[in-house]
Amino acid sequence: MIPVVLSGGSGTRLWPLSRTQYPKQFLPLNSDQTMLQETVSRLGDIKTVNVICNEEHRFLVAEQMRQIEQPCSIFLEPVGRNTAPAIALAALDAVAKGRGSEVLLVLAADHVIENEQAFRDVVAIAAPLAEAGKFVTFGIVPTHAETGYGYIKRGGNDDGAGSFPVQAFVEKPDSETAEAYLASGEYYWNSGMFMFRADRYLEVLGGFRPDILSACQAAMQSTSVDFDFVRVDAEAFKTCPDESVDYAVMEPLCAEPGSAEQGHDAVVVVPLDAGWSDVGSWTALWEIKTKDVQGNVLSGDVIAHHTKNSFVMSDNRLVTTLGVNDLIIVDTKDALLVAHKDRIQDVKAIVGQIKAEN
Ligand code: GDD
Ligand code: MG
Repeated sequence: MIPVVLSGGSGTRLWPLSRTQYPKQFLPLNSDQTMLQETVSRLGDIKTVNVICNEEHRFLVAEQMRQIEQPCSIFLEPVGRNTAPAIALAALDAVAKGRGSEVLLVLAADHVIENEQAFRDVVAIAAPLAEAGKFVTFGIVPTHAETGYGYIKRGGNDDGAGSFPVQAFVEKPDSETAEAYLASGEYYWNSGMFMFRADRYLEVLGGFRPDILSACQAAMQSTSVDFDFVRVDAEAFKTCPDESVDYAVMEPLCAEPGSAEQGHDAVVVVPLDAGWSDVGSWTALWEIKTKDVQGNVLSGDVIAHHTKNSFVMSDNRLVTTLGVNDLIIVDTKDALLVAHKDRIQDVKAIVGQIKAEN
């Protein structure tokens, strides 16, 4: 098994702590370790890991892997082209090393998983399925009609060992569709983690998106390796279309004709009940953190009186609150966010405005 950690996201919804130069996967949001370090550590004893990230984050990744004494290869993308190409780089590298039939365990670098043993158990269930050529997804039982996730429709019956065939994969549906999926009880959220053989991924990617495959092949034709860094051909990679694995591979693969009841032969879902969260917002982070009796999460130099169900974080000076509820307050050296919990998804819009004005 080859662990592949996707670490190229920008984490804008956790602004102002998460920045372009320092996105959330590099922050210790849930424990003493950063999200990237937790992602790698929860795999247990692994020989080496492939981290795929943007060129500008190479020293952050190298330093964080050094801190946890984890041997690694760090693939550097000159520009972000989303997850389909990022995974293709790791798959092509495996093939080039004669390891094309090995399974890639593709992980996001910025998720929280509370129960590490449960996570390792589902990986163990998934491994033989992936070795046999299947695309394995990990499904989370949905709790609300989230539109920021992919939805996996379970088909057929449990194979007896913990996996189900997949009937459909729908990436980021609109809210009406998400409501219907939730009500049906037949859908899981896509956790964003996958297992498949490197050669199978390339085969299927090449079928749906030959443009992505050929750009990545060209980018991997002349790589340069220095220390743990693997640099791909920048000009070739820049020509690659920007697409996620969900849209480029999973959605079209599951839409291929298969038995409507039984689901597609090539894709299975293994349910994951391990306290998973993609920490997609400040409210999501507040939810998973231990709270005081007032329901507050207070971090740094903070005094809160008559304050309830709030997240108050200061990383440099004293922050005090009085008589407020349901707020997210994040104070950093150069920016302060004060938001109502219900509006927290709009942080993205603020970041957009800041980018547009600078
Ligand atoms: N190397 C690299 N390059 N990594 C990337 C890039 C890139 O260009 N873009 C994103 N990533 C990394 C992110 O850092 C994250 O770890 C992971 O890939 C997933 O990307 P996101 O941008 O966070 O995807 P998403 O949250 O919108 O959606 C995905 O995850 C959801 C669950 O959290 C999808 O797989 C959804 O279907 C899924 O429900
Ligand atoms: Mg995400």
